[in-house]
Amino acid sequence: MAGTAKFSSKIGIIAATIGSAIGLGNVWRFPAETQANGGAAFLVIYVACVLILGVPVMVAEFTIGRRGNSDAIGSIRNITGKKKPYWLIGVLAVIVPYIILCYYMVVSGWTFSYLVHSIDGALYTPDAGQTAVDFGAKMHKYVLSDYSPLIMTFIVIALNYGVLMFGVRKGIERLSNFAMPVLFVILFVFCIYVMTLPGAGSGVKYFLDPDFSKVRPSTFINALSQAFFSLSLGMGILVTYAAYYPKETKLARTASTVSVLDMFVAIMMGLIIFPAIGAFGDFDNSEMAGSALIFVTLPEIFNQMPNPGLWSTLFFILLNIATLTSTVSIAEVAVAAVQQRFKIGRKVSTLIVIAPLLVFSSVCSLSLGRWSSFTIFGMTIFDFFDYVATNILLPIVALLMCVYIAWIAPRNILHDEITNNGTLRSRFYRIVIFIIRYIAPFLIALIFIGNFIK
Ligand code: PHE
Repeated sequence: MAGTAKFSSKIGIIAATIGSAIGLGNVWRFPAETQANGGAAFLVIYVACVLILGVPVMVAEFTIGRRGNSDAIGSIRNITGKKKPYWLIGVLAVIVPYIILCYYMVVSGWTFSYLVHSIDGALYTPDAGQTAVDFGAKMHKYVLSDYSPLIMTFIVIALNYGVLMFGVRKGIERLSNFAMPVLFVILFVFCIYVMTLPGAGSGVKYFLDPDFSKVRPSTFINALSQAFFSLSLGMGILVTYAAYYPKETKLARTASTVSVLDMFVAIMMGLIIFPAIGAFGDFDNSEMAGSALIFVTLPEIFNQMPNPGLWSTLFFILLNIATLTSTVSIAEVAVAAVQQRFKIGRKVSTLIVIAPLLVFSSVCSLSLGRWSSFTIFGMTIFDFFDYVATNILLPIVALLMCVYIAWIAPRNILHDEITNNGTLRSRFYRIVIFIIRYIAPFLIALIFIGNFIK
């Protein structure tokens, strides 16, 4: 069995995996979803989804990776053999994240652009205007024009290459060990500062006030998709990373730690964004979701704080860390697959995966500006990729992986991996096997169908 490189420490394992999980999902998806779906009422459902479904499905993906000890395709082949077609699930698990990577890199380029313009002050020069409309115009200039977003996207693509070519320990692990603590420190500093602002309380209330009238069947589906997206499930990422876990790593504990930390960061993000709007903004006239929240509403809010450049710089450092450690993990799925399938060196396989992004990500970027009149089913190429990957392919891969480990792979594998070959207690095993056999497939299928009904 082809061996893979391993992470060198427990901290490195957690830092890299949590680095993958914390991304745009926590920052621009979670707060808005919570607020739109009934505040604390949604939060309770989301927490339940993460703990009851997210953790067991994560353990299942870890099991495939550590047992298979290879990339997403090779791991499945190592478990059930080349002759049976199950490794095709692995092929899907390599393609889906690659599609996501094409446009995630573009957004990553925007966050880099905003970091640069927070540092050089261009975002906050008084002559450029201070209203939401002015910040909207700036967003247009930085991210929707033709060439400047491309340059920034190319820079982040190069950064990803720079990390990935160094491999698992010297690239991914070293980046995560350094970057994740910085992210947590910024998060705390921000949260404490914002909470002490007058008016912050109204934001907390707005974010968390339970509104049970907003809870509908779709709320459960939204909570579940948010949990999967945010935990990086269904994308081969956790399979690939788990192949780098040494045999002593406790899978159930790692899955719980990563999930709880990811949830914690999402909630902290809500406790930064809404109180900041409560203190300086206007809930009725501000965009609370997606790119408009990050690139228009927040800069407008920072602009009213003392030292806008400083707070804006800190925020965009945080966001760049979140996106870089996520894009690296998404790309690693394909890098590992190319490296192991074709038996080629790290630098070349990284190049094979990263170089085409210069074209694909450019197409995604231009599809929002110059080429926006070209649409597929009424969506730009960027939105179409996002829709197909996250709403259709991601639940399919998650479902297949779950069914594979619960029903197809030899029965003892999950038990051996959860108990580290019988050396740990097996109480988690019973819970995990029950959930991934009977509950998770049903609920994932429901997310899938629900997305069409929405
Ligand atoms: N889980 C990360 C996030 O919340 C990164 C990610 C998202 C990775 C979607 C793949 C797909 O942003």
